[in-house]
Amino acid sequence: MPDQPLPSTERLLLGPGPSPVSDRVRRALGAPPRSHLDPEFVLLLDDVRRHLTTLFNAAEGYFTCALSGTGTTGMDAAAVNLVEPGMSVLCVVNGYFGDRLSQIFRRQGAFVERLEGEWGRAIDPAQVERALADGRFDVVGLVHGETSTGVMNPVEAIAPIVRKRDALLVVDAVTSLGAVPVDVTAWDIDVCYSCSQKGLGAPSGLAPITFSSRARQQRMLLPDFSLDIQKLEDFWVRRQYHHTISAPLIYALHAALAELHEEGLPARWQRHAAAHLALVEGLASIDLQLLPAKDHRLPSLNAVRVPKGVDASVVRDHLLSRHNIEIGAGLGPLAGRIWRIGLMGSGATLGNVSRVVAALADALGRTPGR
Ligand SMILES: Cc1ncc(COP(=O)(O)O)c(C=O)c1O
Repeated sequence: MPDQPLPSTERLLLGPGPSPVSDRVRRALGAPPRSHLDPEFVLLLDDVRRHLTTLFNAAEGYFTCALSGTGTTGMDAAAVNLVEPGMSVLCVVNGYFGDRLSQIFRRQGAFVERLEGEWGRAIDPAQVERALADGRFDVVGLVHGETSTGVMNPVEAIAPIVRKRDALLVVDAVTSLGAVPVDVTAWDIDVCYSCSQKGLGAPSGLAPITFSSRARQQRMLLPDFSLDIQKLEDFWVRRQYHHTISAPLIYALHAALAELHEEGLPARWQRHAAAHLALVEGLASIDLQLLPAKDHRLPSLNAVRVPKGVDASVVRDHLLSRHNIEIGAGLGPLAGRIWRIGLMGSGATLGNVSRVVAALADALGRTPGR
């Protein structure tokens, strides 16, 4: 049987990630290979670390790098470096990824209390305050942008509550970094991780992460070798071999971060906000609404209610086959009830909003009314 050929046509990736990659990022993937400790290559690693430090707003004392892996690797790295059997973790669970984070802490042997919240609503900081008053926790885990529901949890309001109780704070910024403000210094976050393939606009395969000095001091003695933050620091800072990081992925992330910093963070956040608002308006014109209430929404991921009587997967298939646009399906209890439209990285444009709204109007047989 002949091999499947590589894709040769463009597809607009407006799902929950990966987001589209720019031509510049795509070209970077094909730069000549270098090994992971080549004198030119390590300078690129320095640039990546510097750009990521700015992006997280990580003050002196934080160690920031990109793990080889995806957002899930970031989750694992937070858990293996901070948690050992018997420790207590409070994990906010108001969506699929909060649930995954709680499972990851549990696999590390922690006693995990799940602070359950409604899927589609941001967690109320008062709930966190009450849970922390009821027990002593070593670590609190929280997802900033909950990709399964399109909700943004109020990390900035929760972080001081956690600090008062002297627990370490782990924040998942997989769908928020690069799209909305994330400030680990102002919010006093201990571990914050993300991915390369959403707000940053690179392919998947690297997971930016930052550890506060407090988190590094409390690091477990023997975390997994591949995710040991001290060994990673030896590689990234002291140029000691740890693993063979992918040069093409570093090239691509390097280019994506250069684009991001040329654009400027405030302009980038503003672009994501404008695309989100245009989408909300465009969807309203064909009588579609978002799941979360206005104040709870994450601009980079839009959870759209599937109208009664409509088969969600038929519409997704129509967008893919007729318009070459990918959007995401609902996860877990929201399967069949929402579509997930990502406007992230270089994909967050008004042109893409018009395309996806027109495609949805076509699939549903609706004419924009406003
Ligand atoms: C909030 C959140 N956390 C973690 C992950 C896991 O990331 P990955 O699929 O890159 O492993 C995702 C993936 O979409 C996510 O949205």
